[in-house]
Amino acid sequence: MNGKLYALSTGPGAADLITVRAARILGTLDVLYAPAGRKGGDSLALSIVREYLGERTEVRCCHFPMSADSAEKEAVWDEVAAALEAEVQAGKQVGFITLGDAMLFSTWVFLLQRLQHPETVEIVPGVTSFAAIAARAQTPLAMEQQSLAVVSCTAPESDIRQALAQHDSLVLMKVYGRFARIKALLAQAGLLDHALLMAEATLPGEQCWRQLAGVSDDQPLPYFSTILVNKQWEKA
Ligand SMILES: C[S@@+](CC[C@H](N)C(=O)[O-])C[C@H]1O[C@@H](n2cnc3c(N)ncnc32)[C@H](O)[C@@H]1O
Repeated sequence: MNGKLYALSTGPGAADLITVRAARILGTLDVLYAPAGRKGGDSLALSIVREYLGERTEVRCCHFPMSADSAEKEAVWDEVAAALEAEVQAGKQVGFITLGDAMLFSTWVFLLQRLQHPETVEIVPGVTSFAAIAARAQTPLAMEQQSLAVVSCTAPESDIRQALAQHDSLVLMKVYGRFARIKALLAQAGLLDHALLMAEATLPGEQCWRQLAGVSDDQPLPYFSTILVNKQWEKA
């Protein structure tokens, strides 16, 4: 059997929000690569998919540093991409799991850019965090002629301000550590009443704030925190 590399989207957190295709492939793998938040730490993505893994699948946890040092990050991406390709060239069925959808703000994309044999790769799409948040909050993302922007809160303030002015609906990702600044931008744009904040959607610790004006600037938030803005949706 020829080797193959699968990028498998796990969905946003709840184990049953993975696709049937990803779950089936997980049961057939020789090796699974799982990103871990900390060196030697647990992998949230791995905990989501564990129930679907085949008995003979070897699991390799890999840590991707979040440091500002791009040389350090690039060295790890080079190393993991080379390791994935070596396993595929050896004829193995290899998986790489990624939270939410693999093609949205995902480390997987840095690996994809480095792979020399795209013909051996299959990417399995998944439920994004913002699709899950919209469903959990019963708040639509966009309808009819409305525009939807997906924005990272790491973007320059002027870009976020412009996106808030321009679009009907917005997903503000990577809010962690930036809530006070984003709340101020929403207030300046008159959008606090049209925004909601959700942390750890579909996970056991899920929390949702629908009145952002009442949320303290120093509210502790987990890394998995996202704001949805829909200017034309009346909140219940
Ligand atoms: C590196 S990005 C990963 C995005 C992921 N690939 C997706 O499809 O949603 C991490 C950001 O996604 C958002 N996120 C991921 N999972 C989430 C969840 N369960 N609840 C709320 N936000 C989540 C947060 O904004 C977090 O900062």
